[in-house]
Amino acid sequence: MTLKGRDYIETADWTVDELETSLEVAADLKRRFRCGEPHRLLQDKTLFLFFFDKSTRTRNSMEAGITQLGGHAHFIEASTSQIAHGESPKDTGIILSSYGHGIAVRHDLVPGEGNTYMREIAKHSRAPVLNMQCDVDHPMQTLADLMTIREIFGKDLRGRKIAVSWAYAPSYTKPMSVPQGLITLMTRFGMDVALAHPPEYKLMTKPLEQAKRFAEEKGTKLEIVDNMEEAFRDADVVYPKSWGPEHLFGDPEQAMDVARKHTSWICDEKLMSIARKTAVYMHCLPADRGNEVTDTVIDGPQSVVYQEAENRLHTAKALMALTM
Ligand code: CP
Repeated sequence: MTLKGRDYIETADWTVDELETSLEVAADLKRRFRCGEPHRLLQDKTLFLFFFDKSTRTRNSMEAGITQLGGHAHFIEASTSQIAHGESPKDTGIILSSYGHGIAVRHDLVPGEGNTYMREIAKHSRAPVLNMQCDVDHPMQTLADLMTIREIFGKDLRGRKIAVSWAYAPSYTKPMSVPQGLITLMTRFGMDVALAHPPEYKLMTKPLEQAKRFAEEKGTKLEIVDNMEEAFRDADVVYPKSWGPEHLFGDPEQAMDVARKHTSWICDEKLMSIARKTAVYMHCLPADRGNEVTDTVIDGPQSVVYQEAENRLHTAKALMALTM
């Protein structure tokens, strides 16, 4: 199988075998990084990183990753490029792909826009397009999450349960792409998924339908509940995080008024005690400490957030090395 030149926009665009290959390469690159073995698989290659939103992990795992692979990344804030003056994704894709070997985009804060935007770039780009988070999926994050879960529980995840839950956060209206990416990926890789959220926080129809179809095809479960307790019961992995109501991303004040009705949706030690004793706490980060999660949980023995964050480097490198 060759993945050279392939876009990576949603995990659902790739087969299970292709994602398995990415995880194998990520594990190998993790070992090589830790041993200090050179692995310059992308010598002299250039990747353009377009950000329409802020980032710590994604930007730095991609930039550090391509440097370690022997290439170079250009960091571009969309607001300081000609995109801000209305240059089209078609022209951006054609021109930048004639200068380098990959285009990565984060465009995650406007439901209905980011995924369409990067697919339009991809249609016209000669180089692969990598999704660094859109409105629909965050496939860089969820592949790292799957790698982390397998490191802890092994490759065979059948019968394991992940609770993907909404949690309260006052900081900003967070994208819907992480929970959507989790339910579409974990149902394909053997896990039973319990999705919990207050009624205002329904996920987008397409990823929900996709996840239902994957669960049917793979013989896994997808249940949707309206409280954290039910989702956490007997869970092996808990992943509580905030996201915004789909129709209120353009109105942050009203979105926060809705969120404030649900401040009790916090992951604390009492809630953790409902999950299995061996359960792990995950979060893509940044977490709103004291709101989405208590310090005792995120800093406690069940938390694997730093292992998860580290794996962003190794999975990003695998995806760049395979596609560019
Ligand atoms: N989890 C994640 O994507 O982190 P950043 O927003 O810092 O990139």
